[in-house]
Amino acid sequence: MKKVVLGLMVAGAFSLVSADGKAIFAKCAGCHGQDGKKKALNKSNVIAGQDAAKTIKLLQGYKAGTLNQHGMGALMKGQVANLSDADMKAVADYIATLK
Ligand code: HEC
Repeated sequence: MKKVVLGLMVAGAFSLVSADGKAIFAKCAGCHGQDGKKKALNKSNVIAGQDAAKTIKLLQGYKAGTLNQHGMGALMKGQVANLSDADMKAVADYIATLK
């Protein structure tokens, strides 16, 4: 029973998510994990399910080069350098659905 409910939740989450956010996250998954539950390079916080507004704020900080939480801010700056505000919102919304 638990499995069925979980399956429905996952299916529901995916149908709500724009394709873009998922596509953008594909390049983040190598470090943050397919489900966003990995500590990237054993440094970052787990980002799965994080509030989208908070994620956007973090990504903007990395892009601006003003955020460096675990000594790897410069690395994340490179990851988000090419993301527009809309891209950041899409990927943040997708991350928020990862639970
Ligand atoms: C090469 C590995 C790598 C890739 C690829 C990568 N990240 Fe990161 N990410 C990190 C590391 C390391 C940190 C910690 C940075 C720091 O020191 O503040 C981090 C931090 C973060 C944080 C803040 C987490 C916290 O600790 O509060 C977010 C949000 C995030 N990344 C999202 C993304 C997104 C979205 C992408 C894809 C566009 C991405 N990352 C791609 C390695 C990566």
